[in-house]
This record gives sequence, C-alpha cells and structure tokens, in this order.
Amino acid sequence: MPREQLRASATPSGGAWNGAPEVRTSRLTLRAWRDGDLRPFAAMNADSRVMEYFPALLSERESNALVARIHRHFGAHGFGLWAVEVTGHASFAGFVGLTHSLFAAHFTPCVDLGWRLAREHWGKGYAREAARAVIQLAFERLALDQVVAFTAAENARSRRVMDALGMTRDERGDFDHPYVPAGHPLRRHVLYRLDRAGWHALSRARAYSRP
Ligand SMILES: CC(C)(COP(=O)(O)OP(=O)(O)OC[C@H]1O[C@@H](n2cnc3c(N)ncnc32)[C@H](O)[C@@H]1OP(=O)(O)O)[C@@H](O)C(=O)NCCC(=O)NCCS
Repeated sequence: MPREQLRASATPSGGAWNGAPEVRTSRLTLRAWRDGDLRPFAAMNADSRVMEYFPALLSERESNALVARIHRHFGAHGFGLWAVEVTGHASFAGFVGLTHSLFAAHFTPCVDLGWRLAREHWGKGYAREAARAVIQLAFERLALDQVVAFTAAENARSRRVMDALGMTRDERGDFDHPYVPAGHPLRRHVLYRLDRAGWHALSRARAYSRP
C-alpha cells in the first residue's frame, strides 16, 4: 500500500482551520472540515439508518455544534475526527478519526476511534481504509500506546470494522455509556483495543496492506 501522505493543511478553505494533518489513502482524503460539509453532515445526522445505534437523531443545530466541538478538539489535541472525502468522487462522505475521551468509564481517559459515513458510502470498505490510516498515524506520528473503539453492543457493522482492523474485544470491558440514558436499550457498549505491539504485529503480517 502506498504510505499515507501526511501534511499540514496549507490553507483553510471555506472556514476550515489550520494545523490538522491531512491523511491520504489510495481512495480517500481525510482533511480539515469546510463550511460546505455542514449541510451534508446534518443530513447524515438526521438519517435514521445512520443514527440507528445512537439514542437520538441530531437537529441541524446539534449537528453544527458537533462540528464546532470537532474544531475545538483539533485545536486542543492536533488530531480529531477528520472529514472524509472520496478522492475525486465525493467531496464529503462523513468522518473517521480519533477522540480524546474523558467521560467516566473504567478505560478513560483514552483515545478512541470513531467513524460515521453517509449511507451511500457504506459497503465499500471506506471506514476500514480510513481507520487503518488513522491508526498508523496514531502509532507512528502521535506515538500513542493504545487506541480503543466502542459501540453499542448491537452495532454489528461497526464491530465488523473493529474486527477488520485487527482490534481485540476486551471481553471484560463491556460498559454502560454514561451519555446514553439509564434503561435505554443502546446503553450497553462493547470495548475493543489495539496497542502498539499489536499494531506492529499486524503491520508485519501485512494485514494493513489491503485497501
Ligand atoms: C459503521 C460504518 C462506518 C461501517 O461502514 P461499512 O461500509 O459497513 O464499513 P467498511 O467501510 O469497513 O465496509 C465494509 C464492507 O464493505 C465491503 N467492501 C467493498 N469493497 C471493499 C474494499 N475494497 N475493502 C473492504 N471492504 C469492502 C465489504 O463487503 C465489507 O463488508 P463485510 O464487513 O461484510 O466484509 C457505517 O455503517 C456507519 O457509518 N454507520 C453509522 C454510524 C455508526 O454506527 N458509527 C459507529 C458508532 S461507534
């Protein structure tokens, strides 16, 4: 696989910010957000299939507030949830990236992988392709020791991405997500982990060479 090319975003366009490294894979560009992403992102967040495993759909205002939080996160940490572009085909497909999470749980603080793509971009391997590049950045550039991923236990699509990335489910790691109301059927979450040694072993086995 061509190594991901990393470079600082040179010019903010349409209200984007400076400083976030851009990540390229064979099919995708993970880039800074632009004002033009807000509308398609709000449409995704109002799509009941995309939001099936979240407690509620987001209003346009809530969706925009999420992008503002993502901006602040990049400013604070230098990494975050990148906007994903299908290079040359779709200017905005969703997000994939990393969040520094502080909510109360047995494994926090942590850096966790997240992904959310518009429905028309599912089933093409984009989530795992982007996440592999983000994991490479996490271990090679950010020098993290571990990344985790978690999702509602029923979210089989997201769990397949975690499996495909070579992440290991922490069998004793299940937890109730504190941001999901008590008694809600989606509150129970599963936890997956990948540490630096595991990632090196996967890299050596060329598990990360597929798109
Ligand atoms: C979770 C989510 C990102 C997964 O998207 P996805 O398209 O299923 O995941 P991938 O990009 O890895 O694609 C996987 C499928 O694409 C297909 N595919 C097609 N071309 C491919 C390629 N070149 N490489 C790999 N897979 C490919 C495969 O059949 C694969 O299915 P499989 O796992 O049954 O083998 C998507 O369902 C989503 O956005 N869901 C809503 C938000 C959400 O729940 N986020 C997680 C909350 S924690």
